[in-house]
Amino acid sequence: DDDDDEGEDYLFKIVMIGDSAVGKSNLLSRFARDEFDLNAKATIGVEFQTQALDIDGKEVKAQIWDTAGQERFRAVTSAYYRGAFGALVVYDITRRSTFDSVKRWLDELDTHCDTSVARMLVGNKRDLDNIREVSTEEGRALAESEGLFFMETSALDSTNVQMSFEIVIREIY
Ligand code: GTP
Ligand code: MG
Repeated sequence: DDDDDEGEDYLFKIVMIGDSAVGKSNLLSRFARDEFDLNAKATIGVEFQTQALDIDGKEVKAQIWDTAGQERFRAVTSAYYRGAFGALVVYDITRRSTFDSVKRWLDELDTHCDTSVARMLVGNKRDLDNIREVSTEEGRALAESEGLFFMETSALDSTNVQMSFEIVIREIY
């Protein structure tokens, strides 16, 4: 509803949360630029990418926000969540501690956003199945009990990355 936004039918803010090194930034760079960096540095502050998608013939723009998992590098929390329509809550299937943190991230999300925010639980690094510490069933069960969508992804080999973002964007739209 902004006259300057001709041709941009929708713009939705989506936030990425989860512990450090679970792969939030690489999921975003895979989705937005089809890039992956094995030596990615930890995020400091906030970064974002805007990505246009065609959903049922409409141009939908997702503005995806990515912040640091590490407390000391995080941006102002309330500003990060303000205006979000969707959230990807990411853990690393090879590190159980990151899965145990999901509840804490959901609490923070609930504190700052209302319950209508579309939420996706993402178990990333699916390519590392041989060193997995969290089973697919555990991930799915947590998602079901918390009312979240669920996907296992790999930013490295691209598995389910597009799909994860698209499901959230479709749910918002
Ligand atoms: P913070 O910015 O500190 O919160 O971390 P982050 O969640 O953004 O993690 P980041 O994307 O920086 O990735 C951390 C490390 O995991 C990097 O070395 C990545 O290359 C690696 N990584 C990310 N996604 C995958 C994946 O799907 N598979 C594998 N094997 N490695 C991955
Ligand atoms: Mg990062």
